[in-house]
This record gives sequence, C-alpha cells and structure tokens, in this order.
Amino acid sequence: MKDKYSLLIIDDEKGIQHGLKTFFNKRGFNVFTTGKYDEAIRIVKEKNIDAAVVDIRLKGNKNGIDLISELKKLEPDIIEIVITGYSSVDTAVTSMKLGASDYIVKPIDNQKLLDAIVKNLEMRNLKNENIFLRNEILSRYDSFDFITENEELKAELRKIDRIKDKPITVLITGETGTGKEILSRYIHFTSNRKDKRFVTINCAALSRELLLSELFGHEKGSFTGAIERKMGKFEIAHGGTLFLDEIGDMSLNIQSKLLRVIEENSFERVGGTKRIEVDVRLIAATNKDLRRMMKEGKFREDLYYRIAVFSVNIPPLRDRPEDIPILIRHFIKKYNKKYNKNVIDLNNDAYNALISHNWPGNVRELENIVNQAVLLSDSEIINLDELVNGRIFIPIQNDKILQNERKDDFEFDKIKDLKMAIANLSKDYEKKILHYYLEKNNFNKSKTARELGITRKTLDFKIRSLNIQDIHRRPQS
Ligand SMILES: Nc1ncnc2c1ncn2[C@@H]1O[C@H](COP(=O)(O)OP(=O)(O)OP(=O)(O)O)[C@@H](O)[C@H]1O
Ligand SMILES: [Mg+2]
Repeated sequence: MKDKYSLLIIDDEKGIQHGLKTFFNKRGFNVFTTGKYDEAIRIVKEKNIDAAVVDIRLKGNKNGIDLISELKKLEPDIIEIVITGYSSVDTAVTSMKLGASDYIVKPIDNQKLLDAIVKNLEMRNLKNENIFLRNEILSRYDSFDFITENEELKAELRKIDRIKDKPITVLITGETGTGKEILSRYIHFTSNRKDKRFVTINCAALSRELLLSELFGHEKGSFTGAIERKMGKFEIAHGGTLFLDEIGDMSLNIQSKLLRVIEENSFERVGGTKRIEVDVRLIAATNKDLRRMMKEGKFREDLYYRIAVFSVNIPPLRDRPEDIPILIRHFIKKYNKKYNKNVIDLNNDAYNALISHNWPGNVRELENIVNQAVLLSDSEIINLDELVNGRIFIPIQNDKILQNERKDDFEFDKIKDLKMAIANLSKDYEKKILHYYLEKNNFNKSKTARELGITRKTLDFKIRSLNIQDIHRRPQS
C-alpha cells in the first residue's frame, strides 16, 4: 500500500503533541498536530489524512466528540483513535458509535496507540483491496508471454527490457488483435513493479463522466449516483502500472486532465479538492493514428509527446508470417492444457493455408482458430480438411480464378427458379451463381438471399462451405 501515512494529532496539551509527533515521525509517519477544533477540520480538508488521534476533552465549546463525526463526514476512510481519561470510558464508547475506530485510555502508551493505528489501517486497506483482489488474482495468472520470431519485434523487446524498470510512459500502437495488451502485461510483469498492481482501463468503452470517475475516483455526492466515495484507477495502480487502452478514443477534455496528472504526478478525485500523489507507470495503447489525429486537432500534441516517450509499433500478423508457426504451437500448448487434450500439431497443408491467410483480426483471430481446433478435434495432428469442414477456418483460394472468369459464360438470366437451380446444380456452378448475385448486389447478403429465395442463414452457410470470399470487403494490406 502506501509508503507513508499521514497522521493528525488533535490534543490541546503541547507536551503530548510534541511527544507523539516525535514518536510517530520516527516510525515513518507524516505527522500534523493541532489543539484546535477548526484547525483540525481545515487540515483534514486540505491534506490527505489517513488517521487522527483525537483527545475527547478539547478546550472550547465544541469538543472532541463533535469532531469525530465531523471528520468522518469529510473523510469517510479516516481512522480515528480517541484518547480518553480513565473516568470517561462511557464517552469513549459513544465516540466509537460516532465513527471512531478505537480508544486509548490516558496516560497514553505510545506503543499501544501505534498498534491500534496500524491494525486499523491494515483493516481499512484490506477492505479496499478486497474489491480489487479478485480481478488482480485473475490478472496475475493470465499469461504475459509475448511470443515472436520477428526480428523487428525482437529488437523492440530488447529495447523494452532495457527501459522497463524506468518510470517512463510507453505507447503501444498496432491494429486490433496484434497483442498490445499482452505486450503491456509483459512490460509490467517482468519489471520491478511486478509485485504491484497492473490495472487496465478502456477509454473507449466508457462515457465521459464514467471515465473521469473511473480514472480519478470520486467523492460521495459529487454527481448523481455517487453514493459512496470511490477510488480511481490511478490510486489503485499506485506503485504499479496503469494500462490506458484505446487512448485515441479519449475526449480532449479528459486528455488535458490526464496531461496534468502526468506532469504533476498527482490528481484530484471528482468532486474533491485534495491533491493525491501517485507513482504510476502508464502504458497507453491505440489502433488509431495519433499523429493524424493530432493534425486534425483531435489529440493533444503535448499529451502525445508525454505519452510517446517510448513507443512501440506491433506490425500486423500478415507482415510477420514467421510468427504464425510459433504462435500456433504456443496456442496449441495453451489450449491442450485448458481442455486437457493432446494435440501435437497441425499438418503442412494447414500451416500453408494459415500462413497465406491475411489475418484481418491478427493474433486474436489465429488464437481463436487454434482454440476451436484443439477443442473440437480428436486427432493428434489436425489437418486442413478438418479446419475447413468444421468451418473453423476458411482459406482464401480460387476466388481470383472465379473473378477472372467471364460471367456471361453462364446463362444466369435463364435460370428461373433459383432455389431449385441451386439445389440441383454442381457445387462449382452453384458457387458461380452465388458469386454473381453477391457481386451484383454489392455483397449485400440480405438482398442476395431474398433474390435467391433462400434464408440469410443458408446463404451464410453456403458462402462458408463453398469458400466464397467477399473480395470487395477484404481489407487491403
Ligand atoms: N505475441 C504474442 N504472444 C502470445 N500471445 C499473443 C501475442 N500477441 C497476441 N497474443 C494473444 O492474442 C490475443 C489478442 O491480443 P491483445 O488482446 O493483446 O491484442 P490487442 O492489440 O490489445 O487488441 P485490441 O486492439 O483489439 O484490443 C490475446 O489473447 C493475446 O494473449
Ligand atoms: Mg486490447
């Protein structure tokens, strides 16, 4: 958790203030002292106080009892330890009902007081932590192996290994599914921050208001729905890494807030006034072209240069075919384990087909194919036919041939009952007809299905089983 806790001593005896300050300073606390009610309130408003030691018998018309609930209102997480005279144990009990965590009877035993504070801080931390523990445990057991044989990427990994212990921000770019998140996990879980948290947030998935409160947390009542104080991801990631996914989707307004946090290493909760200091390594990822967004005024230039201190671009899978075999083997192992299977490998045909595929979904698409293949197959060596027949993978083939054939070789217009025609024709002919109609309708499948008198589902099935490729939609590499 925190390296240094802040403690407020509220007691009107100067001697006690001084004694406790010295004692707690020596034990690594940041100590504030006061003997006055109003000043205590002011300090808690301005500073991040973790625990307060409150002498119930304060001079003036307001006493320590009032202060207990006042401070709790300002700072719901605060630990309050009450100091009471031997004769006023009843008041001590009352004060616990008002929110104090514990009480100590005078004369103060410093060690006892320290124990009470530490025990309560630990309990509070556990409570806060519990909420994140589940996610964290899950996250720790996920893999962080970044597999590659690509020289360019290997060189990037060597650079990363040199800088990963430094607290610098990293920007990872690449198409969808290229491995931006797993690379950032690699950076965190092999760096000197690995024992602290790896926290992720997707900037595209949340509304502006939610993203703000997820990042920075909020105070109770700061907006409708903020019924409790909530810790933001920046606080949770203290000491560790915060992964800002899809940063290209962050609004300009939040971009400026983020810039400020990076510049000052501190931030304020939504609806809060206190600055909270944090030490967080940021890793940002995007599949957008931030430089272009900058030119278009959609991404702040100053933020870009803050984030892209070190930047890595992961090339698309189609540009690094040498990674396909090694990734296939990696995923076979992973899913063998998951499904308790003994798949050894794919056959050559399958490798060849997978290597010549153009992978619009990149590694994620490849992983899905291997996942299904391992799950569904009973063979030790999975061959291409199995992949194709199981409709796990549809290779790109032959559509060039189809495209080059002259369509008027076929007397399409003479076919009246298309449904019947399709049912009775050879596969080859069927394929050509389907292709002709798809093209005619600009690959609008619903329209094509209607014209052919078949359902959309049947059309999809035919497209897959006949290996008809949607030539016009395939992304250009
Ligand atoms: N080099 C790699 N080694 C091992 N697994 C990888 C690699 N690259 C990607 N993967 C796996 O592929 C899947 C997709 O990767 P990841 O989620 O990191 O992609 P991404 O770039 O964040 O995608 P998106 O932009 O869609 O969020 C994950 O299951 C990941 O574990
Ligand atoms: Mg991702």
